[in-house]
Amino acid sequence: MPARCPVEGSFLYDKLIAFGEENVLPMHMPGHKRDTERFPWLKPLGGAYDITEIEGFDDLSAPHGVLAALTERLAALWGSRRAFLSVNGSTGAIFAALSLAGENGVLAARNSHRSVFNAVDRLKLHAEYVMPRTVPGRSFFGSVAPEDVGRRLDETGCKAVVVTSPTYEGVVSDVRAIANEAHARGAMLILDAAHGAHFGLCGDFPEGGAECGADIVVSSLHKMLPALTQTAVMHICSERADAEKAAAAMSAFSTSSPSYVLMASVDGMLSFLETDGEKTLRRLAADIAAFRLKAKSFRYLEVFDGEAENCLEIYKIDASKIYIDCTKCGFDGYALKRRLRREYGIEMECAYPGGALAYVAAGDGEESLGRLYDALYAVDRSCGDDRTAAESVRGEGALPAAGEKVYDIFEASRMACTTVPVGGAAGRVCTESVWVYPPGVPVLLAGERVTEECADYIAAAAARGAEVASPSGVFGGTVKVAAE
Ligand SMILES: Cc1ncc(COP(=O)(O)O)c(C=O)c1O
Repeated sequence: MPARCPVEGSFLYDKLIAFGEENVLPMHMPGHKRDTERFPWLKPLGGAYDITEIEGFDDLSAPHGVLAALTERLAALWGSRRAFLSVNGSTGAIFAALSLAGENGVLAARNSHRSVFNAVDRLKLHAEYVMPRTVPGRSFFGSVAPEDVGRRLDETGCKAVVVTSPTYEGVVSDVRAIANEAHARGAMLILDAAHGAHFGLCGDFPEGGAECGADIVVSSLHKMLPALTQTAVMHICSERADAEKAAAAMSAFSTSSPSYVLMASVDGMLSFLETDGEKTLRRLAADIAAFRLKAKSFRYLEVFDGEAENCLEIYKIDASKIYIDCTKCGFDGYALKRRLRREYGIEMECAYPGGALAYVAAGDGEESLGRLYDALYAVDRSCGDDRTAAESVRGEGALPAAGEKVYDIFEASRMACTTVPVGGAAGRVCTESVWVYPPGVPVLLAGERVTEECADYIAAAAARGAEVASPSGVFGGTVKVAAE
């Protein structure tokens, strides 16, 4: 039996553990019948507790019992009007949010995650884009400026805005001002806070989306908080978003067999946060601040701090995303990531041409940050002063501006097309999106005219072994463009 959750009140968790100990004959799904003696590989995976919606365990699509209590606690903790639990990650919740709010046109930040663009495509939504600010020499975007949102809403008349804050790299936008721009024009703000579930829980991290006036907030619980992978929440924060329609939308984009192991992990997480959340996050923030301070002593490596650098393209940063710039080291971010793994047993979140990202979350603290610091210190001390190589690494990483939008994604992705080498695609309208991971933001978005700069960026990324992908799979050097 797994260790009991150390705090009281984790209702679903306790109920599930107790049920696992009862001798109820399971004449129901799942097919393994919780028999972990016969199917031993399921034992360490929690197979003995893997049930779905059986008597006494409520119904995720119409919660009225144990799951209703759980979602009420989610809403209470983040101060929203109503919360919906997702076991399909933020991806499922983003589909639901856009189906709810997108029918009168969506203004999407151009650095949105592919789930936003996929939803726009599959739901056949008319979408316009707003470019976030670009941070000179970095392979990730800066904040979305509120005035750009206001201007683009005036130009396009869209009635919903989707913005990611914080981003994967911890770039925060001024959500309150963006919400004001949207509301002044009768538009709703959907906040993709997949990486920001820790916001709004203590004063040492930025405010949460509900506090800042977003109408719908989507957060992955699994990314930053102690809950199992795939768990996420959609918060309905204002009357602009219809909670009944939200329930129907979440149900439409959810599995009808939600995993109780996943949901019980959210219950345990809630009990933990309700008692120790603020203290834990405050301690984490202090540990991160200490790490960042110590890291100032590095000679070549540099921990990115958009705020301290007075970077005008960045409103704020989430200090928990630690981007380590190695452009003065004479090796690239992929080499840094590899070295940390091979020599120091540290697996970074991802690598960029100019650096690597440590994704610090609720489960981290003095010990893990200390180990990261020691490894980086050793790497830093072993560096030579090769500044020429350094500059070329940095230049390669800068993100190109998006091409002109010609068609909506759903129009482009259904058009007659032809496949051409990406190098020869400039000037053509692409009918599929292509993104480079990280940051996983489309460089080419279906329906946009391919620019030479975008084509070159993709070719260079593929050549240096970066992960380049399109909806149809791994990038093979070609791209689909509209037939002439
Ligand atoms: C900004 C952003 N939004 C949404 C998602 C989707 O989240 P999930 O993996 O929980 O479906 C991701 C995933 O990395 C993301 O980075």
